[in-house]
Amino acid sequence: MVETTQTSKLLDIGYERTCQCPPNHINCLTAKEWILHQIAIWEFFYEKRDIRDKNIHPAVFPIGLPTKCIQLFTHEGELVLDPFVGIGTTFLAAQDLNRNAVGFDLKNEYIETGRSRLAQGRLFGQAKQIAICDDAHNISQYLKEETVSLSITSPPYANMLNRRRLNKSIRGDLRQNQYYLQVQQYSNDPNDLGTMEAAEYAQALEEIYRGILPLMRPKAHCVIDVTDLWWENKRIPVHLYVIDALEKAGYELRNIIIWDRRNLVNHVGIFGWPSNYITLGTTFEYILDFWRPPS
Ligand SMILES: C[S@@+](CC[C@H](N)C(=O)[O-])C[C@H]1O[C@@H](n2cnc3c(N)ncnc32)[C@H](O)[C@@H]1O
Repeated sequence: MVETTQTSKLLDIGYERTCQCPPNHINCLTAKEWILHQIAIWEFFYEKRDIRDKNIHPAVFPIGLPTKCIQLFTHEGELVLDPFVGIGTTFLAAQDLNRNAVGFDLKNEYIETGRSRLAQGRLFGQAKQIAICDDAHNISQYLKEETVSLSITSPPYANMLNRRRLNKSIRGDLRQNQYYLQVQQYSNDPNDLGTMEAAEYAQALEEIYRGILPLMRPKAHCVIDVTDLWWENKRIPVHLYVIDALEKAGYELRNIIIWDRRNLVNHVGIFGWPSNYITLGTTFEYILDFWRPPS
């Protein structure tokens, strides 16, 4: 008989609070700090550590975004999951705030960049951040049930990046910048959500989040940053596909927050004038906040 040894992929990573907050508090914020987070329109600024070079990764969010979500929905020592971690922005936020974190990405190059960004970070925190190159469909093989206190990510938007970039919202000569006419998709992997048609994409998102649900603690929040798009002069309400997929997977929508990006939009060109009124897709994004229902 041939003996097979099954090696477990379960990660050795902490998930319990290490702070002294009262048990009924959902985060370590004081009442004064909490007040600042109540407004449903958020704004972020890039800092030096943020990577904005689209040749390194075409769609990175600022460190401030996962930072705010981690502060709102976790305590020190708890576990944060990013199912589509890219080059590891969520890790930097978790490292700063002494939270454990696990992130997945299909593309090894992104995972390696995430690891090297982490290596430049602070050394004295006790929490661990682990980057794993694997399909988000497989996340349940790595984590124990009811250990994740927050899932935060920005997912791909179906095959919307799979086209030549025309920079239509950028003014005049600036339009032909270094990314003009480039295709900025993540990979050609058939499991990459960024290669899928809308229906297949919604199905894959639902499957991935259904697999993650048992790993979340009851009432753990699941935050998804997403924007709607223009595609061949049609508005594609990606945020509605995401809400539908997450609700089918068993999550409940709690809050819709607008990420006001007006401070980041510059050199804007005239878009649609004088015959076609279309708003600039880059002026805001949705931060959709779900949770795993209490029981
Ligand atoms: C919008 S990016 C995330 C960027 C990230 N927030 C950051 O700041 O670096 C989405 C990521 O999902 C990854 N991805 C696509 N399909 C995936 C899958 N099935 N499993 C895991 N990662 C996937 C892509 O490689 C891409 O890096």
